[in-house]
Amino acid sequence: MRLFLALALCFVCFIQLSMQAEVQGKIVPNLVMRSLNDLPYDTHAKLISKELIRDYPVQRNGQFSFTNVENGTYLLRFETIEYDFAQFHIIVNGSRVYPYYTTTGEERPSTSAMKSISHPITVRAVQKHEYLQEPRKFSLIRLLKSPMMLLSLASVVMVFVLPKLSEHARSMEVTQQQQESEVTKKTT
Ligand SMILES: *[C@@H]1O[C@H](CO)[C@@H](O)[C@H](O)[C@H]1NC(C)=O
Ligand SMILES: *[C@@H]1O[C@H](CO)[C@@H](O)[C@H](O)[C@H]1NC(C)=O
Repeated sequence: MRLFLALALCFVCFIQLSMQAEVQGKIVPNLVMRSLNDLPYDTHAKLISKELIRDYPVQRNGQFSFTNVENGTYLLRFETIEYDFAQFHIIVNGSRVYPYYTTTGEERPSTSAMKSISHPITVRAVQKHEYLQEPRKFSLIRLLKSPMMLLSLASVVMVFVLPKLSEHARSMEVTQQQQESEVTKKTT
């Protein structure tokens, strides 16, 4: 009898837990973001409703999840400086999660006539912000490649390094002469 009660309790707990929705998914590589190694460390998933914003730092394997999500409609989006990711409207009803693709500013689908996509959600990058990249990585290479830079490097070499080199060569000569003279002294 006690065992039966315990089992029944477990069953009720299970039902209760399974009634609470978990919104989850994974960021996957594509042509825009070619590898999960390129996933910026500061990438956050945000589940936004009128009442609150929930924040989840996306794991290194691209996974994210929000547990105990209540009934309602949400906007799911991803925040990082380097990429734009796809955005979703999420409708939660009991334990079920219905995600829909959306774009910034678009109203959520008022009718559920639109077909929802599969859950867990697969998220892809849609755009990379190149302008953030160029000033840092590009300019140094471009600078080094430019003829002006090469010329000035060459002149730096001429002005500073060559005299030192010849000086060095001269001192080498001097010490060699000294050594030679010492050798000749010893032999005499
Ligand atoms: C939630 O699902 C039930 C069926 O399980 C349905 O009757 C109800 O209309 C749905 N609620 C919303 C807000 O879509
Ligand atoms: C959420 O929706 C489900 C299905 O329609 C319902 O059984 C449940 O009571 C609702 N939960 C809340 C907190 O409103």
